Amino acid sequence: MRFGYFDDAAREYVILRPDTPLPWINYLGSHGFYGLISNTAGGFAFYRDARLRRLTRYRYNNVPTDAGGRYVYVRDNASGHFWSPTWQPTPGVGLDDYSCRHGLGYSRIASRHADIAVETVYFVPLQQTLEVWRTRVTNVREQPADLSLFSAVEFCLWDAIDDSTNFQRNLSTGQVEVANGVIYHKTEYRERRDHFAYFACSAEVAGFDTQRDAFLGAYRGWDRPAVVEQGSSSGSVAHGWAPIGSHQVRLQLEPGETREIIFLLGYSENPTTEKFDPPGSQTLNKRRVRPVIERFSQAAEVKDALTELRGRWSETVESLQVQTPDPHVDRMVNVWNAYQCMVTFNLSRSASYFESGTGRGMGFRDSNQDLLGCVQMIPDRARERILDLAATQLESGGAYHQYQPLTRRGNDAIGAGFNDDPLWLVLAVAAYVKETGDLTILDEPVVFDHRPGSEAPIYEHLRRCVGYTLERLGPHGLPLIGRADWNDCLNLNCFSEMPGESFQTTENRSGGVAESVFIGGLFVLAADEFVALATRAGYTEDVTELCSARNRVEQAVLEHGWDGDWFLRAYDHAGTPVGSNQNDEGKIYVEPQGMCVMAGIGLEDGKAERALHSVARQLTTPHGIMLLQPAYSRYHVELGEISSYPPGYNENASVFCHTNPWITIANVRAGRADRAFESYLLINPSAREDQSEVHRSEPYVYPQTIAGRDAPTHGEAKNSWLTGTAAWSFVAISQWILGIKPEYDGLRVEPCLPSHWDGFQATRRFRGASYSIVVPCATDASRKTVQVSVDGRPIEGTLVPLAPAGATVNVEVRLS
Ligand code: BGC
Ligand code: NOJ
Repeated sequence: MRFGYFDDAAREYVILRPDTPLPWINYLGSHGFYGLISNTAGGFAFYRDARLRRLTRYRYNNVPTDAGGRYVYVRDNASGHFWSPTWQPTPGVGLDDYSCRHGLGYSRIASRHADIAVETVYFVPLQQTLEVWRTRVTNVREQPADLSLFSAVEFCLWDAIDDSTNFQRNLSTGQVEVANGVIYHKTEYRERRDHFAYFACSAEVAGFDTQRDAFLGAYRGWDRPAVVEQGSSSGSVAHGWAPIGSHQVRLQLEPGETREIIFLLGYSENPTTEKFDPPGSQTLNKRRVRPVIERFSQAAEVKDALTELRGRWSETVESLQVQTPDPHVDRMVNVWNAYQCMVTFNLSRSASYFESGTGRGMGFRDSNQDLLGCVQMIPDRARERILDLAATQLESGGAYHQYQPLTRRGNDAIGAGFNDDPLWLVLAVAAYVKETGDLTILDEPVVFDHRPGSEAPIYEHLRRCVGYTLERLGPHGLPLIGRADWNDCLNLNCFSEMPGESFQTTENRSGGVAESVFIGGLFVLAADEFVALATRAGYTEDVTELCSARNRVEQAVLEHGWDGDWFLRAYDHAGTPVGSNQNDEGKIYVEPQGMCVMAGIGLEDGKAERALHSVARQLTTPHGIMLLQPAYSRYHVELGEISSYPPGYNENASVFCHTNPWITIANVRAGRADRAFESYLLINPSAREDQSEVHRSEPYVYPQTIAGRDAPTHGEAKNSWLTGTAAWSFVAISQWILGIKPEYDGLRVEPCLPSHWDGFQATRRFRGASYSIVVPCATDASRKTVQVSVDGRPIEGTLVPLAPAGATVNVEVRLS
């Protein structure tokens, strides 16, 4: 069952009924100011940091679900009847012609009720710190309509945690100012803050409210605010309690007439010396923000800003466009997967409908991987991100597991010791240099742990990344796992018996020898990337040394990391195998199969093939590939959080989507084209659209997990949007299946296509040139031979040489 459809030409997903199984959301904003918006206008906005600069309130885990957002009420003044054209918060009122179009960086929600049609577009103009809601109201009646519009947002008192816990203080701190119909939220501005929020309206305002209780009335919810019911704003000015913003606009509409009203919800800062106007007063200085409000109150400016935004997004995703025989591939590669890569890059794991924005900073491992999916779209920002990440690295080569986006400092509360973390930086830098050719990044001096004076070139940072693993090898010559590796919940040095104790930061037994086969595979992969970089940068000594270290670790994986039919997962604290046939539960894990084969381990002696065969037999379901089997049915104190989840959920044997593209890539590496494509398609969200009632999450973005075979809700997706699945899926389909791979000296085109495909076409932007690629192939051909021609001339091999910026290169790849 579907709840909407893909409008591929418009690059939109169109939701046709508001009661989706879960809120289906979109993101507004691309750099600094962000909003989350659901298909019924729920959600919130923040500036940079979803915890510390939260503009509007959102109550996670609320009932009814997704209450609180960007609301507009329409009131028919003749009858007193009112409703919200976005369904929430008045779902009891039936809407005609409801649709929500989520596009790239904007959402458009439209409906009709009582012969009044309302359509609102929400977006954040480029480079601005505000969101625009452009509302068009049309009277489709045959009589004039006398209407009022009421807007409503609830302000958050900045720190989202404090806001939802420290009531004894913050019920007394709220402050606003209202001037010329603009509502300014300025709690704590008098003292230590230099920033404020504003909520403005382009139309003449008939009234306003800023105190929640005055607007809603006692014991009422957003579904029937007293002010809307009565038809006139009360002019309340919030002192303490709960500041909100609400405008009233009166509209007299002739039959067929449309009026456009623009609401602006924004964030602004003043220099500390210019906070007040006049100086010495306590009145907010609005000089800086007034021109912004004036500008975006004009229809023409808003129209241009929306066009500009759409243009920017088109340009961004057009770095790669493909036409293949499969619509699920096309729409994910051309639009949605690319877009999701950008959103995860921007937000890491901080704010989604499943990440409250209050707990987690930017993950070191996460951010490095996110970059793999979008470096071709935003190379400059990728460079900046790499430098930020490296600046949080510790001198030991280790990494803070997370850093805070406002301060860009490592998060002490979580600290370091996730032994895979540093290796991902090597992959990120390699991807950046291959995409851009910019080797100068290796010389860029960057501090360690934000300590002035500790600057060292990025190359040195990378040396320490790989060195960190080599200084921490265990008894089998495999890397020690530390607190955890990619699998945050496999905590082999934490024996937790205490409720609430963090599995990740507790290491309560010393002297263990827990080793990770997964990090072994990752190390080999990263070492190969490092060697390629070092060779180009002329560090020959490091190359020789690292090559032999890499071979030793590979050997250790082959000898001590192989269980007979698949790669082992780890050795625990006591040296007992994990992910082995000897275990009664958790006999096989997916991660080492994917990572080791991606690194090329076992390709020569048949181990790779066998491991992938085991994955197909033991872990693959119609809903994707499970993380492990059999699921842990009881708590294994020696394994940690993984066994704390009920069977089939999260790390305990769900389809943990992030790992699935690794298997896709591994299948390509092992030459198993059909298997590769099958595994790719299993979790492709568009390919699951027809079972939206089972999948439940958005059909246009990847979720983090899909409940595994052991779960009562097998097939149900959770934690959509912010997941490494986005980047890796993009890499798997674009670089491995379609085979369009940036390399240091050119663009490799080496497809590994499913046998039922008869080819594809693509355009790829690469180092300023445009490559137009056609791949004809007969479905009955063996495809063992690849012949590449560039501008009509056959070349040796599959590496298309670099073309000058501005050039258009025609590439034909014949598979026969
Ligand atoms: C959390 C786990 C979670 C995992 C994957 C960890 O940081 O502690 O609860 O399952 O991340 O999201
Ligand atoms: C989500 C975390 O953000 C990511 O870093 C981790 O690798 C996966 N969970 C698996 O535990």
